[in-house]
Amino acid sequence: MLTQDQLKRQAADAALELVAEVAAPDVIIGVGTGSTADLFIDGLAAFKGRLRGTVASSERSAQRLASHGLPVFDLNEVQTMPLYVDGADEIDARLHMIKGGGGALTREKIVASVAERFICIADESKLVERLGAFPLPVEVIPMAREAVARRLAALGGRPVLREGFVTDNGNVILDVHGLAITDATGLESQINDMAGVVTCGLFAIAGADVALLATQNGIRRL
Ligand code: A5P
Repeated sequence: MLTQDQLKRQAADAALELVAEVAAPDVIIGVGTGSTADLFIDGLAAFKGRLRGTVASSERSAQRLASHGLPVFDLNEVQTMPLYVDGADEIDARLHMIKGGGGALTREKIVASVAERFICIADESKLVERLGAFPLPVEVIPMAREAVARRLAALGGRPVLREGFVTDNGNVILDVHGLAITDATGLESQINDMAGVVTCGLFAIAGADVALLATQNGIRRL
């Protein structure tokens, strides 16, 4: 029986095989945030010298990449990336995701938007029938915290301020519990349209292109 950590490593290794297919001296890889992404970063160290570099979706990932000697570029210097590789807190069969458990959702969405393919790596426990059991993270400009919380409550959710947490962008996170997510793309637009919201952790309008889900019987590719 493989542990959850071993499964995460298996998913990370599967993504590294995709990196091997595109690796070239001019190629930049987009890198996500979280414990699964950390394992991917550790494996990516083997590609040092065979890639131009990386773009990170958080300060945390940037530091880890740099600690392996992998160049980290500012996204403004980069026009395209073949792959963006990241974990998820939940993913469904349509490859819609909830992300942001680590609070990096906004930069994750931005870096992913510049990549040609979003590769989601996760252990199979992240695969759900319907999104929403995991509280939906919403990044909010601090002065709009209460106003946005009222609007999220009006949608039927229970927003909880993530205590003692400030995003890399200087904002706060509201974790919204109890949302019944039947229309993920509609809800993503609706929340993103609220004044003061930077972005929400629904990745449905632009979901993953490929999910590499590690199971006890190997990788399941969606
Ligand atoms: C970070 O903000 C998140 O979007 C992560 O991708 C997500 O929380 C998955 O993290 P783990 O790989 O640690 O489960």
